[in-house]
Amino acid sequence: MGNQTSRKGASAQAIQDHYDLSNDFYRIWLDPNMVYSGALWQDGDSLEEAQIRKLEHHIASARAYGKASVLEIGCGWGALLKRLVNDHQVSRAVGLTLSQAQYDWVRSMDLPGVEVRLEAWQDHQPVKPYDAIISIGAFEHFASLDLSEAQKVAAYRQFFARAREMLVRGGFLSLQTFAYGSAYPRTSAIEKESTQFLAREIFRETDPPRLANIAEAIEGYFEVIDMHNDRLGYAKTCKEWLENMRKHKAAIVALTGEAVFERYQTYLSYSYIGFKTGNLDLYRITLRRLEPKVVPI
Ligand SMILES: C[S@@+](CC[C@H](N)C(=O)[O-])C[C@H]1O[C@@H](n2cnc3c(N)ncnc32)[C@H](O)[C@@H]1O
Repeated sequence: MGNQTSRKGASAQAIQDHYDLSNDFYRIWLDPNMVYSGALWQDGDSLEEAQIRKLEHHIASARAYGKASVLEIGCGWGALLKRLVNDHQVSRAVGLTLSQAQYDWVRSMDLPGVEVRLEAWQDHQPVKPYDAIISIGAFEHFASLDLSEAQKVAAYRQFFARAREMLVRGGFLSLQTFAYGSAYPRTSAIEKESTQFLAREIFRETDPPRLANIAEAIEGYFEVIDMHNDRLGYAKTCKEWLENMRKHKAAIVALTGEAVFERYQTYLSYSYIGFKTGNLDLYRITLRRLEPKVVPI
């Protein structure tokens, strides 16, 4: 799986520690398609509907409909890949994940046109450039807590440079990531406590970006076409997940033990507070590959 020492973000081991906990565990409290990222809500939506609305947003944002090949960086349990080939006439949908459990799960769906790979974006060598790229909820893992701001920006620049290389000319990248918001200075007590807890207990070797990091990192590679901050949508998603967990506490405890239940309850409560207060943001960004060479008129 490539040279991990040159990595600036979460290693395969750190990713597997989280996502390979148990597919049955995540099935209990995520929606039926097992989408594990902030949903896009409209009045009256169930969690499942709001997750599908979010997937549809990214498919439209990446202009993926009817394309020959689409790459998903961080494909989770495959909900987007499935939608691309079943509902959006995409001939080949390639998904990357570092989680063995997710990889096995997507493989077992056996979807014509879907190729899942247990591989980091840093190692992926496309046969030819993709027509569109979508990445939802993976960018958070691309830098770790021990990095300086400059090192984080450098890590993100590596990602955008690589994503640009993997895209056709004029291609779109639809990105979703949560990020540190602007509500508190980064040194405030609540932020420090929750950041340390999440990095230690939930998402090891992982630290989310700030908007300024992303803005700096895309320079020369991508331009912003559209961007929304939907932090309240992520707060509502966390609330739904938490309620599902509490409703099914007995089943979860039987599966994973009380300590895991408590840990995830704390994680989702901290996340809910973060998104509700603006300590955390949730960005959906439509990016277009920059073509620096202009023919003078
Ligand atoms: C929170 S999950 C989101 C999954 C899915 N996009 C969704 O919304 O349900 C993060 C995903 O990013 C993947 N990931 C993390 N770091 C990665 C890397 N360097 N290369 C490829 N995938 C990575 C994980 O394996 C996981 O599938």
